[in-house]
This record gives sequence, structure tokens and C-alpha cells, in this order.
Amino acid sequence: MTEPVVATPAGSGPIVTRSAGSGPTVTRSAGSGPTVTRSAGSGPEAEELLVARGISKAFGGVVALSELDFEVAPGEAVGIVGPNGAGKTTLFNCLLGVVPPDTGTVTFEGRRIDRLPVWRRSRLGIGRTFQRVELFHGMTVADHLLVAVQARSSGRLHLSDLLRRGGPGEEELAAVASMLALLGLEDVADRLVDGLSLGHARLVELGRALMGSPRLLMLDEPSSGLDVHETERLAGILADVRRRQGTAVVLVEHDLELVEEVVDRLCVLDFGRMIAVGSVDDVLANTEVRRAYLGTGA
Ligand SMILES: Nc1ncnc2c1ncn2[C@@H]1O[C@H](COP(=O)(O)OP(=O)(O)OP(=O)(O)O)[C@@H](O)[C@H]1O
Ligand SMILES: [Mg+2]
Repeated sequence: MTEPVVATPAGSGPIVTRSAGSGPTVTRSAGSGPTVTRSAGSGPEAEELLVARGISKAFGGVVALSELDFEVAPGEAVGIVGPNGAGKTTLFNCLLGVVPPDTGTVTFEGRRIDRLPVWRRSRLGIGRTFQRVELFHGMTVADHLLVAVQARSSGRLHLSDLLRRGGPGEEELAAVASMLALLGLEDVADRLVDGLSLGHARLVELGRALMGSPRLLMLDEPSSGLDVHETERLAGILADVRRRQGTAVVLVEHDLELVEEVVDRLCVLDFGRMIAVGSVDDVLANTEVRRAYLGTGA
């Protein structure tokens, strides 16, 4: 029986820049850019890939999300940043069906999905990676990708069904080989995931999500625990996937350089509310954002 491996990432500290070390966290000047608004205003909803409206979630007395609106256009890369506990992972979990929101609706490609279970949302084309890496003991890197590609072509099957099936087809093996090449994981293809570095484990998770050819890829702090080179590789892979497949990306991330490199639009969550949405430069110059991060309006 395989069990999820829960690897511990380096943790999700305050927002960081890759080269900054202990330097200032937000370095752009406050400036006087265009007003940053709370709504994206990026066209009619019908054209959006994902639309969430009025999402609220409380855990006991803790309000994790409060009447939150969020949308992603086809092919768009959207960043979400915010202090620890702001509600970023909870938003992911509500969109993905891991956690039921208390209020609100979620639409994907024009279809209500907020009552669908996680696996149905995944089958519709929403892939994800976890803040805490979740892989399976006793399975190799290649096995993880193979199971993902077989699940894509087999409908709703359990892991045991997949393992009982005959050997993989040529197309499936080719898909795995090409994903291993994209991720740069050929050398560890036959290694069990148990002994992998966190960097490699995160890439396996990313590969597993990509094997489903998602229209929307949701990444929760994918660079956490990665070194500079691994983070650069991650940025390159995301750019490649977007260019080749037009995949939309939602990136929750503390590494601002990665955010800046990847996203078209940035959202800031604070205490379960979206306090700013706009271009990276405009958002980071926003007074309320700077106050949330730095405790100052400067
Ligand atoms: N399952 C849960 N039970 C109780 N409280 C929870 C649960 N999940 C989240 N919370 C609380 O909801 C709030 C938002 O948490 P969430 O994990 O979404 O924040 P986050 O922005 O992802 O933070 P981080 O940057 O540390 O990952 C926090 O106060 C957290 O303690
Ligand atoms: Mg989180």
C-alpha cells in the first residue's frame, strides 16, 4: 500500500527576493503608478477560464477568506502573494474542492464546478502542486508520471486499478520520457522518490500535474526549498509549458523574482481579502500592500 510522503519544505517565511539574503523585502519605490483596484477587470466573465465569486471560509473563529473574488483568463499567469496566514492555500483548496467554502461560486470554462469533487475538477483540466510535497513511498520518479498519464487516459480509476492493468503503452512511455526530459529528471527516472532532494521532489510533483495536460496549473509555493538553479529551471519550465500549451498558471509564491519573471498579473491577499490586483510593479508600489508587508506606508 502506498502512502503519501509528506516532505517538509524549507517553510514559508516572509516574502523574499532570490538574491536578497537578508536585505529589504520590497525594494521598489512607492512611486505614483496607476491606481490598483480590487477587481481584475480583464474582460467579460464569459471569456475567463476560472471565475470565483464571493468565496468565504472560516475555520472556527478564524476567517481565512472573506467574500473573495478571483479570476484567471485562458493562458494567463496570475501571482498570489501575501503574508503567512493570509489565506492563499485556503483559496487554492476552495478552488480545487479540497475544502468546501462557506459561501461563493467557482466557474471553470463557463461551468459551475463548486460542487464537484477534487478528481472531477482535475479531470476538467485543473492541475496543482502542494505547498508540502505529496509523493508516494516506494514509487519511482517515472512511476509517478506514468500513473498520472494513465489516469488521464483511463477515466476515474484508483491507483490499485492502474497497477493491475497491463503494461504501459508506447504512447504513455513516450509521454513520460518527454516529461522527464522537460523536467531534467532523466538521471533519476528510476530512483524511488523517498530519497529525492526537495528540488527534485517538487519537479516530480510539477511533472505529475503537467501529465494531465491541465488548462490551469495551480502551484502553491513551488520554489520553497529550491536553490537558485532549481528555481531558474522551474521558471524555464513554466515559460515553456505556457508557450507550448497555452496553460494558465496561478502561482502562490514568496520569491518575488520568480513571481516577476512568470506572472502577467499579481494579486495580494491579506487577512483573507484581496487588497490589490494589477501589474507587479503597480501592486508592489501600492501603499496598502507595503503596509501589509512592511508595517509601513513608506
Ligand atoms: N484546516 C484548518 N483548520 C484551522 N485553521 C486553518 C486551517 N487551514 C487554514 N487555517 C487558518 O486559516 C488562515 C489562512 O491559512 P492559509 O494556510 O490559507 O494561509 P497561507 O496564506 O497559505 O499562509 P502561508 O504563507 O503560511 O502558507 C490561517 O489563520 C490558518 O491558521
Ligand atoms: Mg499556504
